[in-house]
Amino acid sequence: MRIDVVSIFPEYLQPLTLSLIGKARQDGLLSLDVHDLRDFTTDRHRTVDDTPYGGGAGMVMKPEPWAQALESVLDAAEPAEGARRPLLIVPSPAGARFTQAMAYELAEEDHLVFACGRYEGIDERVLDWSREHFDVRPVSLGDYVLNGGEVAVMAMVEAIGRLVPGVVGNAESLVEESHSDGLLEYPVYTKPSAWRGHEVPEVLLSGNHGKIARWRRHQQFERTAARRPDLLEDFDAGSLPGADREA
Ligand code: ADE
Repeated sequence: MRIDVVSIFPEYLQPLTLSLIGKARQDGLLSLDVHDLRDFTTDRHRTVDDTPYGGGAGMVMKPEPWAQALESVLDAAEPAEGARRPLLIVPSPAGARFTQAMAYELAEEDHLVFACGRYEGIDERVLDWSREHFDVRPVSLGDYVLNGGEVAVMAMVEAIGRLVPGVVGNAESLVEESHSDGLLEYPVYTKPSAWRGHEVPEVLLSGNHGKIARWRRHQQFERTAARRPDLLEDFDAGSLPGADREA
């Protein structure tokens, strides 16, 4: 998978050189290039923003540096035969909510381009123009406002990148994690079995795998009901692994 990020703060994306995503980049499973939007300005002050038409607080990102930056990303891309159109993701609190299901969907793409807005956002015509070259999706990390798209991109790249085959060594660990089946993950414990007066639940020491699996499933429901009851409204028991098996 190829990923390009355009930002006025390229250093913000530095943590994506670390850990699993950094290793995946080194191993050639992911290519990730970060571009400085100011490199695509033409004036002495490297201006990327201007006042909003219609008035109002704050500044709006000018369209031309964005078009230049995105054209440069497209020119460098050299898509493989039959590759899909690149997908332009515009992080914004006004976007569709990012979810694990979306992360799975985006992990199938050949080329993701992230456009990190700052200030009051990017001139809307950049999105309109981009639709000639990209599929375009404004995406929100959640119902709160960040100072710009960079932190959202870090979260999305981590969530998507770890689903690219080979990035997480043990693919099994992707199966039983929170949100993979619509429920939160069950609690986990390690040695010692007694610690500062707190015991590991006895069932986990029993060696009875059927009983442990049932206990874990029960914990998932309890936890989800207590912490995220909204998830249970959309929960489809028929989608659970093994739901097609006879009881
Ligand atoms: N930019 C500012 N706030 C954001 C959010 N909640 N999600 C994605 N990008 C953002």
